Amino acid sequence: MRAARRCTASRIDSWETVRKQEGYRPLISTPYGLYTSRVIVETGKELGMDDATFGEQSGPNGDAGLHWSSSVTVAMRVNGQPRAATVNPRVTLLDWLREESGLSGAKKGCNEGACGTCTVLVDGKRMNSCLTLVVQCDGCEVTTVEGLAASDGTLHPVQQAFIEHDAFQCGYCTPGQIVSAVACIAEGHATDEASVREWMSGNLCRCSCYPQITAAVLDAAGAAGDER
Ligand code: FES
Ligand code: FES
Repeated sequence: MRAARRCTASRIDSWETVRKQEGYRPLISTPYGLYTSRVIVETGKELGMDDATFGEQSGPNGDAGLHWSSSVTVAMRVNGQPRAATVNPRVTLLDWLREESGLSGAKKGCNEGACGTCTVLVDGKRMNSCLTLVVQCDGCEVTTVEGLAASDGTLHPVQQAFIEHDAFQCGYCTPGQIVSAVACIAEGHATDEASVREWMSGNLCRCSCYPQITAAVLDAAGAAGDER
């Protein structure tokens, strides 16, 4: 707790800044991690930064920073449909998708950018939606696992391959794995087993279904190649 408080007091200028500090990550993963968030908030308050003012400080370059207490309206397309969102600027894409949009396919695992289970596509690129703010997606095309199947219900070839290769056990990582695999194939990185393992390494599977996942991605990539 003392270490967390020292880390926080010496570096705090906003909640998001603290979460990116190299000193924060080891602390949050310790048995004391559950208390670390509270320490940060309490220390921020001692420094005159109550929750409503976190993030309203000047940024490192003297920029004004975002005002967390206000709302921002953004427009984007989600799974091909136009969507508008009026959000607090610190709302993550993952939370907005799951809690406001009824799209719970992307899962919250670590909420720290380490596991990939929240992966979605933003303008065709894989993104950890837990580390992406909704306001960053203004004008973007967002694709979640719900948007991969055809409108008649026909599964995306990657989804089909995951079923055929039994590439899951509990299934918690599967939406992120599938979305990531779609991009991996589109990027041209699904050429062999080693490449798939490397370029899918941002998606962890606690059930350790990696051999089946790799086989499914290669299979789907082969099918995609046959169609070209
Ligand atoms: S929940 Fe986003 S990377 Fe783990
Ligand atoms: S299937 Fe369980 S975490 Fe991947």
